[in-house]
Amino acid sequence: MSQLVASTPGHLKGIKIVVVGAGSVGVTTAYALLLSGLAAEIVLIDIDKQRAEGEVMDLNHAAHFAQARVVAGEYEDCAGAAAVIITAGVNQKPGQTRLDLVKTNYALFADVVPRIAKSAPDTILIVATNPVDVLTHAAYKLSGFPVERVIGSGTAMDTTRFRHELSKEFGVNPRNVHAVIIGEHGDSQLPVWSLASIVGMRLKDFAAQKGIEYRQDAMDACARRTKEAAYEIIRRKGKTNYGVASVLVSILEPIITDGDALMTVSRVGNYGGVEDVALSMPCKLNRTGAHIDVPLLLDTSEQEALRKSALSIKEVIDSV
Ligand code: LAC
Repeated sequence: MSQLVASTPGHLKGIKIVVVGAGSVGVTTAYALLLSGLAAEIVLIDIDKQRAEGEVMDLNHAAHFAQARVVAGEYEDCAGAAAVIITAGVNQKPGQTRLDLVKTNYALFADVVPRIAKSAPDTILIVATNPVDVLTHAAYKLSGFPVERVIGSGTAMDTTRFRHELSKEFGVNPRNVHAVIIGEHGDSQLPVWSLASIVGMRLKDFAAQKGIEYRQDAMDACARRTKEAAYEIIRRKGKTNYGVASVLVSILEPIITDGDALMTVSRVGNYGGVEDVALSMPCKLNRTGAHIDVPLLLDTSEQEALRKSALSIKEVIDSV
C-alpha cells in the first residue's frame, strides 16, 4: 500500500488536482490531499457554490500549514489538472446497497463527465461515486478517454479494510499483510485467499510458524467484516468518508510520482470471461493511468466468484 505522504512533493511540480463534489467524501479527500503534499493547487467544484466556497475558506486555514492552495472552481477549471477525482452524487442511506444509487448518480455523471472531458481531455479520472464499478464504466464511455485513464477507487477500500482485519488476527502491521479483495466494490466482492501471505508465507504457514491456530471461520469473519464495513459505519454515523478519502489519495500518489504501484482499483476490461465491465483487480498505477499488467493466478473457486461478480455488475451496466 503506498504512503499518504508524497515521496516527490507534487506542490514542487505545480500539480493541479480537481475534486468534484463538496460532500463529506469530497471535502475529506481535499483535506487529505492538502496535507499529503501531492498538489500545488486543489480545485473544489460543487453545484452548491456557496458550500464549495465555505469549504474552501475553511480548508485554506489548513493550507497555512501545507504547501498548496485550495480554490472553488467551475468545470472549466479542470483544464491542466493531473487528475480529476469525482465524489459527487448521493450516498448510501442505512439499508441501501451501493447499486441502489445507480439511476440518480448515472444521471449526474451524464452531465458532469462530458464537461470535465471537454475542459481536461488529457487528465486522469478517478471515480469514487457509488456504485463505483458501474460509474467507472459510465465515465469511460461518457469521457471517450482511453481505458487506462478512467480509474475507480473500487476494492482499494476493501483491500485496505481486509488487511486491517487480518493484521489484527495475526498481530502484524497491515502493511505486512499481502492480501487483496477483487471484483465488485460491493456485495459480490471476493477475497483471494489462495494468494494471501505475510512475509511471503501463506497465512496457514505463517500461523503454524507463529504457533497459533489457523481457523478458516476466523478468516471468513475477516472477509465478512470487510464486506459489511460500510453498512456498519453508515448504520452508526450515516456515511463513510475518512477511509475512502485516504484511499483516493493513496491511488493518486503513484499517478503523481509515476510510482508503478500495484493496487486493486476498478477499470474497464474483460473479467472472468465477461467483456466490457469494470471491476477491481491489481493494476499498475503510474502517470499514464491504471494498467492490468499481470492477470492474477486465481484458483477455480476464485475464478467462478470473479465471473459471478462480473456478471452481476454487467447486468447493472446494461440496465442504465
Ligand atoms: C465505502 C464507500 C466508499 O465502502 O463505498 O466506504
